Amino acid sequence: MLFYFTATGNSLYAAKQLESKLVSIAQAIHDVSKTYTADKIGIVCPVFGHEVPTLVREFLEQSTFVTPYFYMILTYGNRHGGASELAKKMLEEIGITPSYINVLLMVDNFLPGFDMNQQKSLDKKVEEQIRKIQKDLEAEKHYISPVTDEDRAAHREYLARRAKMPANAFTDMYRITEKCIGCEICAKICPKKCFTVKEQKSRWNSEGCMSCMACIHACPMMAIQMNMPEKNTKARYRNENISICEIIDANNQSEIQK
Ligand SMILES: Cc1cc2nc3c(=O)[nH]c(=O)nc-3n(C[C@H](O)[C@H](O)[C@H](O)COP(=O)(O)O)c2cc1C
Repeated sequence: MLFYFTATGNSLYAAKQLESKLVSIAQAIHDVSKTYTADKIGIVCPVFGHEVPTLVREFLEQSTFVTPYFYMILTYGNRHGGASELAKKMLEEIGITPSYINVLLMVDNFLPGFDMNQQKSLDKKVEEQIRKIQKDLEAEKHYISPVTDEDRAAHREYLARRAKMPANAFTDMYRITEKCIGCEICAKICPKKCFTVKEQKSRWNSEGCMSCMACIHACPMMAIQMNMPEKNTKARYRNENISICEIIDANNQSEIQK
């Protein structure tokens, strides 16, 4: 049993290579009973600021996993900043002992930091990394991906930089331009139900937004832009092996009351 969260498909692509029974965390977070029992239980998700997205953490906090082998795969794009160590600490704080945590380098979808066209052109040896993880999981290997002092320093630097950011940096992150045609893709793909569409125009409400960027990458009109500088406002990303419908199915909250 493998739970996943994805904004642009990387984590879902990895999850599909690793297990056949996949469960979207954006949907499972609404399960009334969150006790899950299986021989192996895993989580695949991106890292945001070297840590797991808040939605994933909330799901983990609310759930009980009955399994002899709990594992976590953290997809990242450039610098994991000690993500495996941070995730292990977080899991232990909530009473989960992980058997295996690994990181998986993929395309970095963070628009203020990277040009998606350039990212797509890099060979990050994704298949090789996935094959290694597959073998590890088949063998039920016990392993936590090693972290260096440099990784830890990168995380400390990041936290210091974040602390200096203006209070509205995340509450005023996106703007919707006149290019919006009200197609509702943003509303369907947002795992936190932050968009409403009225009179063929979308509106973004920052409440609950975890900056996952599913919306901005999926907008077919490129009508969602960031209020902070982007490396390339004309380039967007979705994992080439994953369809937009799969990400919508994973994240869609239309049936859920906010
Ligand atoms: C808000 C945000 C923060 C991110 N932080 C990091 C980070 O700290 N380090 C990193 O290497 N990649 C970071 N990334 C890149 C993603 O972790 C990476 O592209 C991931 O594979 C995306 O997975 P997905 O396609 O399943 O959403 C960040 C992306 C976003 C949107």
